[in-house]
Amino acid sequence: MRKMTFGLIALYAAGMTAVVCARGATDGPEYQGSALLRPSNYREWIFLSSGLGMTYGPLVRAESAPQFFSNVFVNPSAYRSFMKTGRWPDKTVLLLEVRASESEASINKGGRFQTRSAGLEAHVKDSRFGGDGWAFFDLSHGEKAEPLAGKDAAPCVECHTTHAAVDTTFVQFYPTLLDVARVKRTVRAEGK
Ligand code: HEC
Repeated sequence: MRKMTFGLIALYAAGMTAVVCARGATDGPEYQGSALLRPSNYREWIFLSSGLGMTYGPLVRAESAPQFFSNVFVNPSAYRSFMKTGRWPDKTVLLLEVRASESEASINKGGRFQTRSAGLEAHVKDSRFGGDGWAFFDLSHGEKAEPLAGKDAAPCVECHTTHAAVDTTFVQFYPTLLDVARVKRTVRAEGK
């Protein structure tokens, strides 16, 4: 009996290890049906850059005084691939986290610091989407989101396709990536 219990525990432990390894091996997009799940650990991903008060898009359009930060993160495997090739691989997940900002609190006298989350958008490259492989998502309001389509996706596609430096992504604003893209000659529309 005792032997059997040990046997079962060993089997269970081996199974758990396999599950953990399988999950750890991939940091790409996870879906429920066609909906993208909000990555729970994106704050442990690679930080590309942040912009302050950048006015161009839907989430940061507020013309009134409050200035928003935009923080951009990417899944580590896609980042490693980009650093080698200057291109995004299949299963790239880029996130744009928008945060409100404040000034003159605590010991702060000038400049601005980040506060509450004000939105989360995703730009994902996955062969499942067909076309150029990219899709946009608004993850601001829940744990999952369907790919934006029709008139919801149109402004995202239009601006990113026209102005983004590398493969519809705004690498011109992510300094460490821009250096690599220049060397690999994958820059398409720098500064447009
Ligand atoms: C008018 C131009 C414009 C429009 C429209 C726009 N974006 Fe962007 N987007 C940008 C710029 C500029 C950046 C650079 C990041 C920053 O703000 O620091 C960016 C960055 C991003 C990123 C980070 C990864 C990347 O591709 O560089 C995501 C995710 C993103 N946008 C999602 C969206 C979604 C979703 C929509 C539509 C709802 C959208 N964007 C519409 C200009 C635009």
